[in-house]
Amino acid sequence: MCGIVAYAGGEPASPILLEALSRLEYRGYDSAGLAVQNGLGLDTRRAAGRLEALGDLLDREPVAGESGIAHTRWATHGEPTVANAHPHQDCSGEIAVCHNGIIENADVLRAELIRRGHEFRSDTDTEVLSHLIEEHWLPPLHLSVARALSMVEGTFGIAVMSSREPGRIVCARRGSPLLVGLGKGQIFAASDAAALLPYTRRVVYLDDGEMAVIDSSGCDILSMDAMSRIVKPVEVLDWDLEAAERGGHAHFMLKEICEQPTSLEATLRGRIQRSSPAVKLGGLSDVAGVLSEARRIIFTACGTSWHAGLIGKFMVEEYARVQADVEYASEWRYRNPVLEPGTVVVGVSQSGETADTLAALSLAKERGATTLGIVNVVGSSVARATDAGIYLHAGPEIGVASTKAFTSQVAAMALFALYLGRQRGLDPEVTRRVLSEIQLLPDKVRSILARAEEIEEMAQRLVDRGHSNYLYLGRGYSFPVSLEGALKLKEISYIHAEGFSAAEMKHGPIALIDENMPVVVVAPRDSVYPKVLSNMREVKARGGYLVAVTTEPNGLAELADEVFIVPSTEDSLQPIISSIPLQLLAYHIGVMRGCDVDKPRNLAKSVTVE
Ligand code: G6P
Repeated sequence: MCGIVAYAGGEPASPILLEALSRLEYRGYDSAGLAVQNGLGLDTRRAAGRLEALGDLLDREPVAGESGIAHTRWATHGEPTVANAHPHQDCSGEIAVCHNGIIENADVLRAELIRRGHEFRSDTDTEVLSHLIEEHWLPPLHLSVARALSMVEGTFGIAVMSSREPGRIVCARRGSPLLVGLGKGQIFAASDAAALLPYTRRVVYLDDGEMAVIDSSGCDILSMDAMSRIVKPVEVLDWDLEAAERGGHAHFMLKEICEQPTSLEATLRGRIQRSSPAVKLGGLSDVAGVLSEARRIIFTACGTSWHAGLIGKFMVEEYARVQADVEYASEWRYRNPVLEPGTVVVGVSQSGETADTLAALSLAKERGATTLGIVNVVGSSVARATDAGIYLHAGPEIGVASTKAFTSQVAAMALFALYLGRQRGLDPEVTRRVLSEIQLLPDKVRSILARAEEIEEMAQRLVDRGHSNYLYLGRGYSFPVSLEGALKLKEISYIHAEGFSAAEMKHGPIALIDENMPVVVVAPRDSVYPKVLSNMREVKARGGYLVAVTTEPNGLAELADEVFIVPSTEDSLQPIISSIPLQLLAYHIGVMRGCDVDKPRNLAKSVTVE
């Protein structure tokens, strides 16, 4: 999510660090900072906003030094302010840390460190690391870092520097990428190969549980406990810069589709209390009382986020038995909606900047409703305008067509619905069942991605047939998936596609069906499967080209022209699974038709105007 760079060599560090950070700009920024060794101590500069703000600050207040660490932040804990920007330091100011990832036991560690006299200056989980290293300091630096890391739960990619050991940088990784770049008389480290390409193509990728100790003369790779040395192969990057930004994928959209196992893990991380079982949503604690009394939930959103809101409506009704609605923000804001006491309005938005969603939330506020945000971008306008909320932590989404944010939104909706359910006496057995299923989702998504080629081949067959219209059908929890599948196809490939409830087909869309109409049916074996099966027979009887996405291996092969089997899960969570092949299908059809899938014509990632 965030970007890290480190440099040890014979040249002024700050311009190199700044240039390397600028190579990570595609990841999205909200603040940036660096620390260099200036011979006397550590000199740090941090600025909120885009990287230029840090550049301007360095023009006004330059730093001198030939080794340093730097960071661009994409906030997950704490608002995007200067105080929360990295590097974070200890009390003495002699240790600086840049960190990607999430320290899950940060609250416990922080409380203990405060008890031992440490003073914290930020809201971040990262600051805990700098104080922990200070608390457990015993030279050399890498042993102090190893001791601190042994106490940390969660994920990290870190770069640490201390004025107590000038010129040395320690990096370590567990769950967040890091690589070391080997130059002539200069060594680099970064979270992302893109940052290093102008300087070197010889790199060593760290694996989880490894640490790198760097200075201008070279680099030692050690195990995380610093007990053993590890010999790693040096790889030579042959990527061009653009490919490097996409992590080697052909497009951001594909990268983001493939990131879904980890983005889902990030959305769930720290939110499932294993013992009880229950959902922990820290962002809702201020409004827990209001939510326990809520009599109506209104989700308001646009585009893909509206589809997630529709699934959220179904979930809240199922698990919390509270009346729930989903409204297009653009329509709702211009009506005169009824907002009775006890109504909570939830803005759902990847960017947190969609103008209509913001306007709908401000209308809700004016009318006295409590407002929540289910948002990906920390500190965004929706996050700031609402009383409380749930962050997705899905990482920056660059491709215009939303993919990983959608599946994280659905996962967040499930947590929200179970949270409300628990307040209303939902059977703990149901909570236990759904939570154990939700934790299996990342691996199930992985197993679909491992078969992505099957979808690519299916896409080729469909493209070869040359269709210019598609129908997507689904019922129950798969109805919103059919809407989302159709939206993906039209956004990315410019093919006309519509999603319908399979049940509504006979009230109109069935008139469109002939051999030129491919019909994509989302048909997991859920409570409405027998009904959907009849709908599929109706399509087939009229000569439609039937594509089925199902969990059911038996029976469909004879009926459907194309079948893609997905793993099954709880009905309510099935949209997360079923939408993956539909994302891939739209992606491949778009690419095969020569469309610019990352930047489809006429569309914007974030619609900040009406
Ligand atoms: C634009 C994007 C869509 C997105 C919608 C809502 O139309 O192209 O992918 O679903 O805005 O954006 P939000 O950031 O509010 O989720």
